[in-house]
Amino acid sequence: MGRERAQRESWGTRFGFLMAAAGSAVGLGNIWRFPYLTGENGGSAFIIIYLICIAIVGLSIMIAEFAVGRRTSLSAVGAYKSQNRSWTFAGVLGVISGFFIMGFYPVVGGWSLAYMLKSVTGLLALPEATADVFGAFISAPIEPLIWTIIFMALNIAIVAKGVAGGIEKASKVLMPTLFVLLIIIIFEGVSLSGSGAGLTYLFKPDWSQVTGETVLAALGQSFFTLSLGMGCMLTYGSYLSKKENIPVSALAIVVMDTAVAIMSGLAIFPALFAFGMEPATGPGLVFVVVPAIFAQMGNVGPVISLLFFAALTVAALTSSMSLLEVVVAYLIDEKEMDRKHATYLSSLVITIMCVFSSLSMGQMSGIKLFGVGFFDFFDILTDKIFLAIGGMLLTIFVGWFMKKEDLKNELTNDGTVAFGFFEVWYNLVKYVIPVVIAVVAVMGIAAVEQRNLMLFGLFMIILLGVFSKKL
Ligand code: TRP
Repeated sequence: MGRERAQRESWGTRFGFLMAAAGSAVGLGNIWRFPYLTGENGGSAFIIIYLICIAIVGLSIMIAEFAVGRRTSLSAVGAYKSQNRSWTFAGVLGVISGFFIMGFYPVVGGWSLAYMLKSVTGLLALPEATADVFGAFISAPIEPLIWTIIFMALNIAIVAKGVAGGIEKASKVLMPTLFVLLIIIIFEGVSLSGSGAGLTYLFKPDWSQVTGETVLAALGQSFFTLSLGMGCMLTYGSYLSKKENIPVSALAIVVMDTAVAIMSGLAIFPALFAFGMEPATGPGLVFVVVPAIFAQMGNVGPVISLLFFAALTVAALTSSMSLLEVVVAYLIDEKEMDRKHATYLSSLVITIMCVFSSLSMGQMSGIKLFGVGFFDFFDILTDKIFLAIGGMLLTIFVGWFMKKEDLKNELTNDGTVAFGFFEVWYNLVKYVIPVVIAVVAVMGIAAVEQRNLMLFGLFMIILLGVFSKKL
């Protein structure tokens, strides 16, 4: 059962909402994941496909999530359930995705926290060794765990304070800081000699590298980076005032998010080529390349490095808060828990999952689920399957199970603001996007290495659907 509408929390100000939603979108996905995916998928061609996914699929789904959230004033599960009971499973899939992403995201948040301290305690003294330092750090049994737990404690402190007082307040200060720091790093990187090859890599496409897997990776990343496909933006939309212009807000958030991703690429690749490093080094990329850049900067290096990892931590925090919020809002709305208990309970489970993910980098690297360790299990399952299918279900739900009139009213604030692209948006959501996602998913699964894991993910979704009446 949903709570009384009158009691529902809401954002304090328009700027606060924008910062919180942009804070959710801008995160490790932009600064940590986007560059290494670009590196693994061959550079520019991947970026172009990613940008197309963002513009067509991502933006439309973000508008749809905000509309459904505000229309129902409920979080993911309740929103679906309130319109049509057999759709409950789509909301539950979202909550499960949130849990799974939180099964690895705070581990990387912890790495970032640790790197704040490492920045000023000698990391930059040995620029050639940054890769070894990173490898040794993440595979250690205890140290990364401690940082993950500290990172989770920060999440708990903020989310337990609620929407306006906690999430919104934190985002307003922390987000702008990040922008400024990225700009400084880009200038440093581009001015290194030999950085031109990095720009070529970023902007000159090599289409021979593109496969079904590349397209699925780009689509998955566009969901991940915009916080879509699991009811996160839907939940944030449920706290949104009726006066806000949804399409314009969504566009602003998408532009900010994309800007930060491209800026991260610019911060990393020119320097990477200048240092003669390999682009396809995987998840360690930011932690290896960026300190090497700072090491060139002499005395100010450690301070700038500290600031950079502080900003990365903040970006990670505003995102993980939003993921935790989806789970917490579910427990508040559907299980009638109070905010504090909901936060503590979900964080406890999440922390346990993170312990396994962290240990899978070293101690427990021998334990495989469908051929991958715990960290990759949570990561691949959400990024390559759950988010895309979650997004597809949302578009089918919005296009075929909600009234067009209601959507139009929601997106134009009952006719008081204009949304000239309504018909385009509606037809994209109803006909085009579900088909595009289905095609990409099938092609991607056929091409991907971890096929069994993918099929397991699909099987889980089907099971959820079958038992949806019991949820
Ligand atoms: N978008 C965030 C990032 O880029 C991660 C994130 C936050 C997320 N909330 C989400 C991803 C919801 C998927 C769904 O780091």
